[in-house]
Amino acid sequence: MAVLLVLSAVAAIALYHLFLRYRSLARNIALAKSSGLPVVVTPWHVFSVFWLATYYIWIPLLQKLPASCKGLWLELLDPEWSYRLAHKPFEQLGADVFVVASPTRLTAFVADAEVVTQITTRRNDFPKPLEMYGRLDIYGKNLVTTEGSDWRMHRKLVAPSFGERNNELVFKETLHNTQSLLRLWTSPDTGADKTLNDAATDTMRWALYIISGAGFDVRVPWPHEENDEPGDEETRADSIFMSSKVPPGHKMNYRGALSELLHNIMWTMMGPPEYLTKSPFKIHRTVGTAVVEWGKYMDEIYQTKRKQVAEGHSAAGMDLFQALIRGSGILDEKQTAIQKSDLLGNAFVLMLAGHETTANALHFSLILLAMHWQSQKHLQDDVDKIIQGRPIEEWKYEEDFPKLFSCMPAAVMNETLRIIQPVINIPKSTAPSRPQQFTMGGQQYTMPGDTTIWLSAAIHRNPKYWGDPAHDSKSNGLRDADRFRPERWLVDAKPTEAFVDINYDDEELRGPSGEDTSSHLFKPVKGSYIPFSDGFRSCIGRRFAQVELLAAFAVFFSQYSVELAVDEWASDEEIERMLKGGKERKEIWQKAADRAQHLLRTKTASIITLQLRGCSIPIRVVKRGEERFMFDY
Ligand code: HEM
Ligand SMILES: *[C@@H]1O[C@H](CO)[C@@H](O)[C@H](O)[C@H]1NC(C)=O
Repeated sequence: MAVLLVLSAVAAIALYHLFLRYRSLARNIALAKSSGLPVVVTPWHVFSVFWLATYYIWIPLLQKLPASCKGLWLELLDPEWSYRLAHKPFEQLGADVFVVASPTRLTAFVADAEVVTQITTRRNDFPKPLEMYGRLDIYGKNLVTTEGSDWRMHRKLVAPSFGERNNELVFKETLHNTQSLLRLWTSPDTGADKTLNDAATDTMRWALYIISGAGFDVRVPWPHEENDEPGDEETRADSIFMSSKVPPGHKMNYRGALSELLHNIMWTMMGPPEYLTKSPFKIHRTVGTAVVEWGKYMDEIYQTKRKQVAEGHSAAGMDLFQALIRGSGILDEKQTAIQKSDLLGNAFVLMLAGHETTANALHFSLILLAMHWQSQKHLQDDVDKIIQGRPIEEWKYEEDFPKLFSCMPAAVMNETLRIIQPVINIPKSTAPSRPQQFTMGGQQYTMPGDTTIWLSAAIHRNPKYWGDPAHDSKSNGLRDADRFRPERWLVDAKPTEAFVDINYDDEELRGPSGEDTSSHLFKPVKGSYIPFSDGFRSCIGRRFAQVELLAAFAVFFSQYSVELAVDEWASDEEIERMLKGGKERKEIWQKAADRAQHLLRTKTASIITLQLRGCSIPIRVVKRGEERFMFDY
């Protein structure tokens, strides 16, 4: 009897709970429909912590449902669909903005340029959903994780360092580190077969060393150059040196601490580092230690810089930390709103934002160029025309960067960031009970209040803005919008209206905004190309990243080519015996290209940025003229 009572009580509670959920779902559906946009219903909220942590277990099970139950709702349960399905769901629904209703939350997806522009320019109507950025606050609030007047304070603190005058330093630092990267990749002791199985780790190192060097005047030697004499550019009295060995008082080295932290950053949500380091799970202990270790490194840098500023030293270039300290007024006696944690918070996100994104962009560019050797050849021709055999020491930012920015190097960069956008969904929101009107194609719509809005990477593959049917692939049925074809950027631009910049009410917020174009090249419809977001909250490091990538391309492709490794299908001797440019070689190459395509499509996922997860696409770096798979026909 008692058992029965308990059971029926439990059942009643469960039913009541279901009823509540159903009621809130019904309410959310009605709210979503009031927008005038198409609505998709999902049984739960995809971007909840539980689902994000476990969806890969459930989705294969749900896929076993009978076909009649499946549909778009199931495809949209994959948090990564924006990249994988790209524009398909929008086409299925016949609209470039739609709303997903779940029992707990409304989520809107946007792939329309006109709407993107309204959202990115109406900063107060469509604020960033700050609760999503909590992980980036470990060391303190910063300009990525704040809104409103807090954001203005942080942006003013950071923006002055990103002016044009510092890009020369970024250029130099990149030339230096790209040469080191190439020495690592082409030295005889890297591996007998020279196949690079983990290029992603090396490009991460490359980007970390550039942001450390150019942004913080922190010098880190490459492991294969640890015993070399530091060059001129590295021996300024104020520079901080970080060894690749673990220094006394530390448990991880500088690079290791940050890389462990970034790889496992989601675990930092579980609790403070003191707790994590005592967890029974090794992964928690590792990430806990990494948080502590990286905090110590940043604190050491902070103390050194603080002393330098106090003694009146000033670094030669864009020392972000010195600028932060000076700008904060923290050394003055008078009270300031800015605290040490604000400085550490900003230093951390600048390291992070300035590192993963560019590293991935370089890594994916290399893979895509290895898969598209005609474009690679075209890139090399353009680099040769600009560089004309001059030694790297003679390259100049003011002269060479504008040239690199107006032909294939920029086209390759633009196209990589279009096809594999590091930040696949840019989060925005509406505030509770503050619905927002917007227009699309001459019609009015209402975004309901308390909605999460994602500016979707799918916009980069929306045929309304991208793709020329004449270039749809005949061999594999890919639409032009879905293909890597850098040459699309080189067509003569149709005359477009004059560029109008956003109207900052305070010039100090600006940073590197402004027109980002070479006037005679293809100019995407405003709002349709957003790898760096757009408007007020667009990437402050855009120019920094562009300088890095173009300088790296110039160093790399003036001397080397990148090819897909084919070890899985044929040995070097076997390839050697096959006719150069012959059918047999082409077939082997095709296998590698198909596999690369498959992995790019299925094995990329974001933690913060989109990366290959749990697999790699092996490549080889070869001296120009020694290519095995650049077919000349
Ligand atoms: C290819 C490289 C890069 C890409 C694709 C990229 C992309 C983006 C995107 C999409 C945003 C907006 C994020 C959001 O709204 O949540 C952003 C913001 C930001 N990025 Fe980048 N980024 C790159 C490189 C860099 C670099 C090199 C730095 C610094 C050295 C940097 C620093 C920042 C900062 C500080 C913000 C926040 C700006 C604000 O809210 O005021 N990024 N970036
Ligand atoms: C790269 O993209 C920008 C738009 O962000 C465009 O203005 C520029 O012309 C593009 N570069 C090239 C080489 O096409």
